Amino acid sequence: MNAPHNPNDYTAVVEADRANVWHHLSQHKKYETVDPLIIIEGKGMRVWNQAGREHLDAVSGGVWTVNVGYGRESIANAVRDQLIKLNYFAGSMGTIPGALFAERLIEKMPGMSRVYYSNSGSEANEKAYKIVRQIAHNKYGGKKHKILFRDRDYHGTTIAALASGGHTQRKEQYGPFPEGFVEVPHCLEYRAQFENTEDYGIRAANAIEDVILREGADTVGGIILEPITAGGGVITPPKGYWDRVQEICKKYDILLIIDEVVCGMGRTGTWFGYQHYGIKPDMVTMAKGVASGYAAISCTVTTEEVFNMFKADPTDPLSYFRDISTFGGCTAGPAAALENMNILENEDLLGNTVKMGEYFLEKLDGLKSKHTIIGDVRGKGLFCGLELVKDRDTKEPVEEAMTQAVVGTCMANDAVIIGATNRSFHGFNNTLTFSPALIAKKDDIDEIIASVDAALTKVAAG
Ligand SMILES: Cc1ncc(COP(=O)(O)O)c(C=O)c1O
Repeated sequence: MNAPHNPNDYTAVVEADRANVWHHLSQHKKYETVDPLIIIEGKGMRVWNQAGREHLDAVSGGVWTVNVGYGRESIANAVRDQLIKLNYFAGSMGTIPGALFAERLIEKMPGMSRVYYSNSGSEANEKAYKIVRQIAHNKYGGKKHKILFRDRDYHGTTIAALASGGHTQRKEQYGPFPEGFVEVPHCLEYRAQFENTEDYGIRAANAIEDVILREGADTVGGIILEPITAGGGVITPPKGYWDRVQEICKKYDILLIIDEVVCGMGRTGTWFGYQHYGIKPDMVTMAKGVASGYAAISCTVTTEEVFNMFKADPTDPLSYFRDISTFGGCTAGPAAALENMNILENEDLLGNTVKMGEYFLEKLDGLKSKHTIIGDVRGKGLFCGLELVKDRDTKEPVEEAMTQAVVGTCMANDAVIIGATNRSFHGFNNTLTFSPALIAKKDDIDEIIASVDAALTKVAAG
């Protein structure tokens, strides 16, 4: 551990925060008696708070974002140089980093061809929905407009993105939602919905077909799926699932949108999560790790076939994609993303993710053999989850308070920041989540595991 990082007095900052900042996903009553946590500085996998306390960050900025770690001067320099040259122009024109990043990105995504820039994962998904809707109008008289989403998946916070989310608790009190978003069942084998679980992956995919037939295939234009469900509990797909999903999409002419907001940019050991499963998407959305949080950027990437539908008839005044995102024209995003990609390549962080991911999963399996509260261990690359249960036989989930107690104990005792499914599903906020930066070394993982081990012992003992 390094010495406490900054002995400066941040009292005024804490008070300004307490008085004026509305924190995300936070009930603020507690800040009347305890100080909000202010993160002052970061380096590598570590951040320091206002008291100078050093934290090991096992969740890449809280929400699986800072893939290349903190304090990357080369990204800061690339952004600074670009801002001085040209900070912004609306996305109806091109810019140097916008063009060059699109080219580099497409090299990593065989079969894909066009990059549409915006600022957040939610927005990238909304663009994909608008593309589905416009194709429905142009090709199918507006009928084939429904978009399927999956129980347990999350696609963002704006109203349409939330409408397309399977986090039922997150959606409460924010309706009514826009029409045309239809849920399909999840594919979490540990919590199989069917009595017969043989060929679970095929059954879970067939359940999508059932929904399509119920709704009418001529009304369904798209389906959005996470390659590995993130905030829904780190759900890796069961065997056979993706092949069958793709067959179904082809059969009913349904556009397949893959949400890579979390899995994208190396998190699971390949550039994109879908590349583990032989998936050929029609659209791919991404955000968080694209520039590791050094600048806001998101992308909606399409095939040339999808793109071509928007230029086929220049005589039709409504035929092109009539969408704009003001800050999609900020050059800081693609400038940061280009250097982020250089770092991933130059430091072989994909290779590190594969190796360290295997090590992490092995260690988590080790915890499972020690703690009966762990019902299931899941993950791929540096993206793992532990599902906590009261009883391994009944699989009854622990209360959310217990999951949060483990998170809180790691933080309080060891200054290790881990994550958890967070007020997302009634009764199932019981999965601890881990997504350290892709630079993680064995020592970092050992430190995370030791902290979780101690916290589980303490919490299980009551
Ligand atoms: C899979 C997935 N998609 C989309 C989003 C939304 O991204 P944003 O918060 O940037 O709007 C998230 C955010 O956590 C996510 O996990």
